[in-house]
Amino acid sequence: MTQASTPQRDILVTSALPYANGPIHLGHLLEYIQTDIWVRYQNLRGNNCYYVCADDAHGTAIMLRAEREGITAEQLIDRIRQEHQADFAGFHIRFDNYYSTHSEENRHFSEYIYRKLKENGHIATRNITQFYDPEKEMFLADRFIKGTCPKCKTDDQYGDNCEACGATYTPAELINPRSAVSGATPVEKTSEHYFFRLPDFQDFLTEWTRSGTLQPQVANKLAEWLDAGLQEWDISRDAPYFGFEIPDAPGKYFYVWLDAPIGYLASFKNLCNRENIDFEHFWRADSTAEVYHFIGKDIINFHALFWPSMLHDAGLRTPTAVWAHGFVTVNGKKMSKSRGTFIMARTYLDHLNPEYLRYYFASKLTGSVDDMDLNLEDFAARVNSDLVGKVVNIASRCAGFIAKRFDGQLGTVTETDKLREFIDAGAEIEGHYESREFGRAMRRIMELADIANQYVNDEQPWVIAKQEGQEDALHAICTNALNMFRLLMTYLSPVLPETAKASEAFLKTTLDWNGRADLLESHGIDTFKPLMNRVDMAQIEKMLEASKEELPAATGQPAKAAIEPIAEEIEFNDFAKVDLRVVKIVDAERVEGADKLLRLTLDLGEGQRQVFAGIKSAYEPDQLKGRMTVMVANLKPRKMKFGVSEGMVLAAGPGGKDIFILSPDAGATPGMRVM
Ligand code: 2FM
Ligand code: ZN
Repeated sequence: MTQASTPQRDILVTSALPYANGPIHLGHLLEYIQTDIWVRYQNLRGNNCYYVCADDAHGTAIMLRAEREGITAEQLIDRIRQEHQADFAGFHIRFDNYYSTHSEENRHFSEYIYRKLKENGHIATRNITQFYDPEKEMFLADRFIKGTCPKCKTDDQYGDNCEACGATYTPAELINPRSAVSGATPVEKTSEHYFFRLPDFQDFLTEWTRSGTLQPQVANKLAEWLDAGLQEWDISRDAPYFGFEIPDAPGKYFYVWLDAPIGYLASFKNLCNRENIDFEHFWRADSTAEVYHFIGKDIINFHALFWPSMLHDAGLRTPTAVWAHGFVTVNGKKMSKSRGTFIMARTYLDHLNPEYLRYYFASKLTGSVDDMDLNLEDFAARVNSDLVGKVVNIASRCAGFIAKRFDGQLGTVTETDKLREFIDAGAEIEGHYESREFGRAMRRIMELADIANQYVNDEQPWVIAKQEGQEDALHAICTNALNMFRLLMTYLSPVLPETAKASEAFLKTTLDWNGRADLLESHGIDTFKPLMNRVDMAQIEKMLEASKEELPAATGQPAKAAIEPIAEEIEFNDFAKVDLRVVKIVDAERVEGADKLLRLTLDLGEGQRQVFAGIKSAYEPDQLKGRMTVMVANLKPRKMKFGVSEGMVLAAGPGGKDIFILSPDAGATPGMRVM
């Protein structure tokens, strides 16, 4: 049985470049897993598909974080890049190149594209007035200004919107504005900025966004923006800024979002140089190669308006398509630090097999921009029932007989019709992978797995094995079933690369998609080792516990899966249940093996309590001893990895060094009720 061969396609694929100032979390991973599955599928089909990415290394937030840590921005981005690469590798995300936007290739392409835009008259300059921090001597983007909300008067709100009442405003409207960097009162200051004249591309974009390059929902949204008229885009930032200086504009830097997508070109160029690939073939205006960008729905404007316009004007090809996905929620809600559902890639890997998540995401992914819920109970149930209970089970039910009774040799296939169905289903599954309807692909594969299990149930090899003179029948049943298993694993291999590898070792074959019609007959196989374990809810619980501890320092960049701004409303009666007491910290000590925690011994006046608090980044234990603070005294004791925590101390702040435990006024004594 042979398959017709189709011409090989040249394909370049990217995922969005993660910021180089914070860890990878499950919100990010949806995109990298989605892209990696698609790329692996293309390569399995025999296409020539490259997958490149990079860290998005520029911008004020990265500059300030490096400063806070007392290291150079280069040192910071190198460290974070290593962490990101280790996280991605842990989830079997296989990039052909993982680079950085802070690279010579990126500087070259950024300058090249900018010069073209300028030559063609699409760069304008004009003065704008912004808030400026006179102490730090830097301009302040809205998110680096804080103050009191002009509407509801809540203090400590960011410069453009209030997290308490949802009002939006300009930083100038904030009451008592101050710099979030130094605390100084900002002043207004004028400077010259460079703008990309996006309105010049109105006609081009109207056509481009309607030419099949975008998902219908996205194209419709963009049509609304285009109808409303496009705005010029401010592409410069004043020094100090970590980025590339704009040619012939001393002290002016490219805004991070100008050089970020250009980072796709730079990462690919770096790969081309290393592996002798023809860069021009992929990027010249009339290229026949395909280019796809996988992104989150929050960054569509950058990829579907600015980016194609820049490429078009620079005489380069535009993307074949830009594919957006939705946000990740966990158990139906936004990822939340307090619920432990803001899960870092590393924390997940410490507790669970990455292929579980790859499968779960795949089983729910569609080609649309809809949000994706990771329901943890459903996650465990689906992995256990589909992968362990259905797929792996087929092999484990038959492999033993082949080893013990047939010297590890498969016999001859007798169920040719059934296997024909398995082989032919490949064409349908191909269509689902190609259109990113991975959920449909998984459903079809599980239908086949049901057929295979039903076949084994009906044939009962364990019964046949005990009957005399049934050797050939037993041999055929196991050979049929293991061939079904092989086809299932071939179809699952883009999603489960490690289990696929282990299955190849077990079956002593390669899971070759295009050669799948060649059945395994009279073929030696290896002894079977369990390919995947069941997920245990206890592992998930442990991961959630660990996530509560692992509160990342504030990044100053928007999180991919929005962190809930404020908890849901509660009734007064709920609040009244909270017993807040003044306590004295009589002892504070580090906890061995915990990155964030200090163990506090608190005196309540009527006895002592042990409480674990995630404030190690902000306090030396000695600074705390003898201080008064406020605790929730009636919180149910919670068993943690390091012991029981009998309450909670109250603290505030963005994280890192800036966590402040609440201190009552002098005169308060241990045990006093806080009201
Ligand atoms: O939104 C983000 O996380 C950006 N760092 C994505 C950049 S994608 C590309 F344009 F570089
Ligand atoms: Zn407000």
